[in-house]
Amino acid sequence: MKILAADIGFGYTKATDGKQSQIFKSIVGDANEAQFGDSLLPGQPQFPRHIGLGGQSFFVGELAEQQSRSRGFTLDQNQFLTQYAKTLALAALVPMVDSGDPVRLVTGLPISFFRKYKDALTTLLQNRHSVTLFKPGSLERDEKIIHIERVRVVPQPFGTMFNLLLNEVGKPTSQRFIHEKIGIIDIGFRTADYTVSDKTRYSERGSQSSDNGISTAYAAIAQVLQEKSGVNVELYRLYDGVSKGTIKIKGKRYDLTGIVQSAFQQLASRIAQEVNRLWADDWDIDAIIISGGGGALLEPYLSPLIEGEVLPQPADQDARLNNVHGYWKYGQHLWGA
Ligand SMILES: Nc1ncnc2c1ncn2[C@@H]1O[C@H](COP(=O)(O)OP(=O)(O)OP(=O)(O)O)[C@@H](O)[C@H]1O
Ligand SMILES: [Mg+2]
Repeated sequence: MKILAADIGFGYTKATDGKQSQIFKSIVGDANEAQFGDSLLPGQPQFPRHIGLGGQSFFVGELAEQQSRSRGFTLDQNQFLTQYAKTLALAALVPMVDSGDPVRLVTGLPISFFRKYKDALTTLLQNRHSVTLFKPGSLERDEKIIHIERVRVVPQPFGTMFNLLLNEVGKPTSQRFIHEKIGIIDIGFRTADYTVSDKTRYSERGSQSSDNGISTAYAAIAQVLQEKSGVNVELYRLYDGVSKGTIKIKGKRYDLTGIVQSAFQQLASRIAQEVNRLWADDWDIDAIIISGGGGALLEPYLSPLIEGEVLPQPADQDARLNNVHGYWKYGQHLWGA
């Protein structure tokens, strides 16, 4: 029995089976069948991005972003769940299952939706799903049954905590997370989620979601770029420029370092204010973790503003995968041999 994990974020969908992991943008679009899919570059996508489900066929991720005429992307949680979550999750998991073999899945929900939607998400995924896989650049297709026999849903930031607490066989390795009170700040594309793990128990009081994802800083950067260049750069296309500190628009290069610094500084101070207020009564928190892809970018700005000891995250890992790796380890803990 295989254990799988999926973290369906507003920005990226992440999945792992403990050996391999994958990540793609959380975008679902209609599939146009007759596409010229060949690229001059070697290395076809390693995982399928064109799938069929319930009589419809979809592109997901970067393929949908580039090729679909109508693309679905929503920041509304209800709509996200009913329309996209299942498609994104199944597309992410399908390469990791053997057809028909039962698997167990750990996944998560943002803090603000955890209570309300955890049963709905379980019902949505705990099933036998028939998925069609379309091979790129050919008419060949495969049918696969994804048989998810059990689902466990956790508050998203707990993935980060499990990742630090548990080892590859799901056993606790770090005593401090078992005995201490840990605050977790998970900054994603759309949301920032705050939660407290008190001796590994979820604390409702210390938990909250806010709209202060990294996209609010991107929006400020895009605004400045629009004034300078006249071009409205889509937020999801800013990551490369932001990390390089420079972007080329219509042949002209713009220096971003100053804009990025001030946008990140402002976002960090809004988040710090929220966190310091939310955890005012939890002054006995032992340590704080900053996680998520947005957290990795914001950490240098945010750490000095947080009241408490901030634990460094491993710098050699993609912080977007922290939650999903933790979900998988938690699956090992629950169901592993
Ligand atoms: N290597 C990278 N490639 C792309 N984006 C990255 C990378 N490293 C960090 N990021 C940042 O991570 C962000 C996405 O983080 P993450 O995957 O944690 O968000 P999410 O979970 O999808 O969103 P949410 O938590 O709001 O639902 C991107 O918007 C980008 O700013
Ligand atoms: Mg997230």
